[in-house]
Amino acid sequence: MPSRSDPAAPKPLETEPREGARPRRFVSAGPLKGRIRVPGDKSISHRALMFGALAVGETRVTGLLEGEDVMATAAALRAMGATIEREDANASGATWRIHGVGVGALLQPDGPLEMGNSGTSTRLLMGLVASHPITVTFTGDASLSKRPMGRVTEPLGLMGADFSATMLPLTERGLSPAVPITYRLPVASAQVKSAVLLAGLNTAGITSVIEPVPTRDHTERMLKGFGADLWVEQEAGERVIRLRGEAQLRPQIINVPGDPSSAAFFAVAALVVPGSDLVIENVGLNPTRAGLYEVLRLMGGRIEELNPREVGGEPVADLRVRHSALTGIEVDPALAPSMIDEFPVLFVAAALAQGTTVTSGLDELRVKESDRLAAMAEALRLAGARVEEREDGLVIEGTGGDSLAGTAQPIATHLDHRIAMAMAVAGLASRAGVEVDDTRPIATSFPQFQALLDSTTSSPPAGGTG
Ligand code: S3P
Repeated sequence: MPSRSDPAAPKPLETEPREGARPRRFVSAGPLKGRIRVPGDKSISHRALMFGALAVGETRVTGLLEGEDVMATAAALRAMGATIEREDANASGATWRIHGVGVGALLQPDGPLEMGNSGTSTRLLMGLVASHPITVTFTGDASLSKRPMGRVTEPLGLMGADFSATMLPLTERGLSPAVPITYRLPVASAQVKSAVLLAGLNTAGITSVIEPVPTRDHTERMLKGFGADLWVEQEAGERVIRLRGEAQLRPQIINVPGDPSSAAFFAVAALVVPGSDLVIENVGLNPTRAGLYEVLRLMGGRIEELNPREVGGEPVADLRVRHSALTGIEVDPALAPSMIDEFPVLFVAAALAQGTTVTSGLDELRVKESDRLAAMAEALRLAGARVEEREDGLVIEGTGGDSLAGTAQPIATHLDHRIAMAMAVAGLASRAGVEVDDTRPIATSFPQFQALLDSTTSSPPAGGTG
């Protein structure tokens, strides 16, 4: 077994070059123009596969994100009995066909479930397993093996599941029948909320989650779409989600909208690169996800929503983004859950704005695929930005629109796709370019990122080192 599976083994220093790393220097390449589409929403894609795997009959999904994280979910569900097939792409993209096993009928997998880099796969699947009479071992890469799982083992333990550890690798023994609980979220986390609700699907009685701070609501929307008896109420200023267990899910036809978290990199790139005028089509704008666009507008960003519509029960629009003079602001910490994955690229926008941007209330960023406050502070400083790292946020003094100097040495991405993509955007607005130590993690959420970036900027890519 590789040493990463052994919690006692020393972890390699994060700054050491990793075997097979694919570095690249991202350089200024002219304005971003034209019309693009980003791949399907990662959160919605995971859920479409999971709920399809629990419905009896055929669920069909178009627009599914074919990134490594979502493929880890698909492989795990197959290992637990679901049939999941990709039908060859036609003009409108591939169709995924899922034949589910039914709620309560997931099978014991033959071997460990390999979660790669994906926290969403891990935490949501741990929820599903919790109320099934099966025993499952979860493993992950070096980044995922450092992330806290106690936030889900705690409530799932109250429902009756048993865990060998609170970090990966761990083995979970589910319990059926499990015990329904009412759980108040101690952290604003859609993954924890979803883990409890997913465990509640196969638990007799009513499972409730109290959400003091609202987080992305894709689980609630989609479970209702699949026919679950789920309702949401506001009680004493808190959102309360209740689910009646022993649910029967009906197969659905799902069209996954474009991921606002992936569109974010292109939106910020178009805002900061002079002369840009870009339309990003079919972007999901669920209010629990769209905080970045609100903040960028407050900073002076010219972002128009064209052709607003609904796709798969989610609000969607095409975004027209033009180069803009940005001004630093104090970002309201209450917006954090609605843009939790977008802070790395917001920091890049702040580094190029006029004046100071202050962010706070971002402790959660320290437990994402990397410690995103430390990683972005270090990376932006190397690229020539002025950054102060605080316990719960960054304070950034922008250049007022001037390019960043760029990096002499590669910046460390710490196995974090969003650090790699955010710093690629910084490279477009730099004099010397920004060298990213490893672009491979980008494939977890946005495999086409580099090709799309190269086709969207007017000059061909230059200066690649890998
Ligand atoms: C996700 C929720 C968020 C987010 C992650 C995807 C989801 O995590 O960072 O990329 O699909 O539920 P938390 O809910 O833990 O903040």
